[in-house]
Amino acid sequence: MTSQPEARAALVTGGSRGIGLAIARRLAAEGFAITLSARTGDALEAAAAELAETGARVTTVVADASDDGDLARLVTHHEEAWGRLDALVLNAGMGFGSPIDATPLRRVDKHYALNFRGAFALVAAALPLLRATAATGPRGARVIALASLAGLLPEPDLAAYSATKAAVVSLCRSICIEEVATGVSATAICPGYVDTDMAAWKHDVLPATDMIRPDDLAELAVSLTRLSRNAAVPVLPVYRAGGGLTGA
Ligand SMILES: NC(=O)c1ccc[n+]([C@@H]2O[C@H](COP(=O)([O-])OP(=O)(O)OC[C@H]3O[C@@H](n4cnc5c(N)ncnc54)[C@H](OP(=O)(O)O)[C@@H]3O)[C@@H](O)[C@H]2O)c1
Repeated sequence: MTSQPEARAALVTGGSRGIGLAIARRLAAEGFAITLSARTGDALEAAAAELAETGARVTTVVADASDDGDLARLVTHHEEAWGRLDALVLNAGMGFGSPIDATPLRRVDKHYALNFRGAFALVAAALPLLRATAATGPRGARVIALASLAGLLPEPDLAAYSATKAAVVSLCRSICIEEVATGVSATAICPGYVDTDMAAWKHDVLPATDMIRPDDLAELAVSLTRLSRNAAVPVLPVYRAGGGLTGA
């Protein structure tokens, strides 16, 4: 008798809408069991119900991705539900623009707490399970972080956001270096403007129809999970074609 390979599992933060939900949909279609997380319970349950209707195995955790206790609870819940972690998708994030001298420091702290510190804390909490999963197969295990093109090419009025996303890029490089022997690697996906709620403020100068599609990023995320553990992709810039390879 041959044993069936165990289904792979993914944890997606900020999974109730936008890029996170698009990635969760595509991973679920690939057969991944999913842990979906966000702060707003109703929206989270609606997203999970949509996935479940397609036959996906999905569980939810209401959690603030900037809260240490919530993040520890999230990893414990995921491990108890699925027992493995093939893809950790660090997607929850925030971005509010203002010139440097008009940015309240508490706004800097909030960007740091969610976009970088929360991501760092979640990786640290999940590493034992990522390593254990990576040891079971040829693909290893992957951290997939939604950074931003702004983390590579800062834009005016986005200094706090850009700096925290640059830190996420650095974190992904560090994971690739520190975990090379374990089969865990990380990718910072760095897109330009994507058509989601977060980019709606830009619509007066950049129509939604000209933005990167959330599904484009979902396709990239799924592709990363198909690579062998021998391939590390620490940074993946994704330009908006109409922006002429700038951050615009
Ligand atoms: N849209 C763009 O143009 C763009 C470009 C480059 C990079 N990105 C990055 O891509 C990621 C996703 O962005 P998006 O455009 O899909 O955003 P979005 O449409 O605003 O969705 C954000 C998701 O994150 C959740 N979330 C927000 N704050 C959270 C917190 N403190 N804890 C847990 N969950 C939280 C939201 O649900 P709740 O509010 O219910 O928690 C929601 O599910 C972000 O990291 C963003 O910086 C976006």
